[in-house]
Amino acid sequence: MSDGLHIHETPPEGAGPDWTVPQDWSHYDAQEHAVWDLLFARQTAQLQGRACEAYLRGLDVLSLSRPGIPDFAELSDRLTKLTGWQVVAVPGLVPDAVFFDHLANRRFVAGNFIRRPDQLDYLEEPDVFHDVFGHVPLLADPIYADYMQAYGLGGLRSLEFGAIHKLARLYWYTVEFGLIEEADRLKLFGAGIVSSHGESEFALDDPSPNRIAFDLLRVMRTNYRIDDYQQSYFVIPSFEALLKATAEADFAPVYAALETLDDLAPPDVLPDDRLFKRGTQAYWRNKTARAKP
Ligand code: PHE
Ligand code: FE
Repeated sequence: MSDGLHIHETPPEGAGPDWTVPQDWSHYDAQEHAVWDLLFARQTAQLQGRACEAYLRGLDVLSLSRPGIPDFAELSDRLTKLTGWQVVAVPGLVPDAVFFDHLANRRFVAGNFIRRPDQLDYLEEPDVFHDVFGHVPLLADPIYADYMQAYGLGGLRSLEFGAIHKLARLYWYTVEFGLIEEADRLKLFGAGIVSSHGESEFALDDPSPNRIAFDLLRVMRTNYRIDDYQQSYFVIPSFEALLKATAEADFAPVYAALETLDDLAPPDVLPDDRLFKRGTQAYWRNKTARAKP
C-alpha cells in the first residue's frame, strides 16, 4: 500500500535514480517461494465468488498460478502485451513524486522482498505478495490500467496544489480498499483487501463497517485507518464510472471545495450518503473496550 510514508530520502545503494532495483529473481530461496505458494493457495480459494471478475480474469491471463514468486521480467512481458504496463522492483516505499512518475508511465513499482512465514497474516510494509498478487491482476484490465496511469498523472498535478493528502484518500478507498457492485452483489477489488486473508472476509461479510456508494468529494474528505480494518468501504458501480468520475474531471475545483469542508472520520455517515449497509462499528467498539484498563 502506498500511504505517503517513506523510509529513504534518496535512492539507497544499488538503486537507480528512478529508485528501481533489479528483482534478482534467482536470490529467492525455497522457503520464500513456499511462502508465496501458501499465500497464493489460501487467497485464491477465498476469493472465488468474492473478488470482482476483472481481478480473477487478471490472475488467469497473467498465469499467476504458476508456482513460486513471479519473475517480474516474464510477468511484464505478458502484461505489456495486454495493456502496456510493466512491473519493476523497488527496495521499499518510494517518495511520492517517484511513485506517481512510474504510474504515469505505466510502470507499477513492487517491493521485491517477501514476508517471513510468521508474518502470513499481517505486515506493515508492502511485500511482493501484496504488490503483485494484490495490485497486478487488475492492471491486465484496460479500463483499470487507464485509471492507474491517470492517477499517476493526477498525483503529479496534486503536488502543485498541495493536495496530495486529499488525493491519497482516493487511492486508499479505491485502489487499496475498494468494493465494486457486480450483478447486484458487492465484490472486492482493492489490493489491500484481496491480499489480506482477514480483510477479504471482513470487508464483505462483517456487520461492523459501513459500505457507502462512491462519491469523489465524499471520499476525498474522509480520513482512513492504517492500523486496522477499514471502518467504511466505498462501492464503485464499475471501473468505467470510476474512470469517468476521476480522469475526465478537473480536480482543481474539487481541491478548492475541499479547502472549505471539514475532514470526516472513518466511521462517519452523512445524511446524503447512499448506503449499501450501515455498519454497527461493533468490531472497533469491542476492541477499544478491551484496550481500556
Ligand atoms: N483528473 C484529475 C485532475 O484533474 C487527475 C486524476 C485522474 C486523479 C485519475 C485521480 C485519478 O487532477
Ligand atoms: Fe498497495
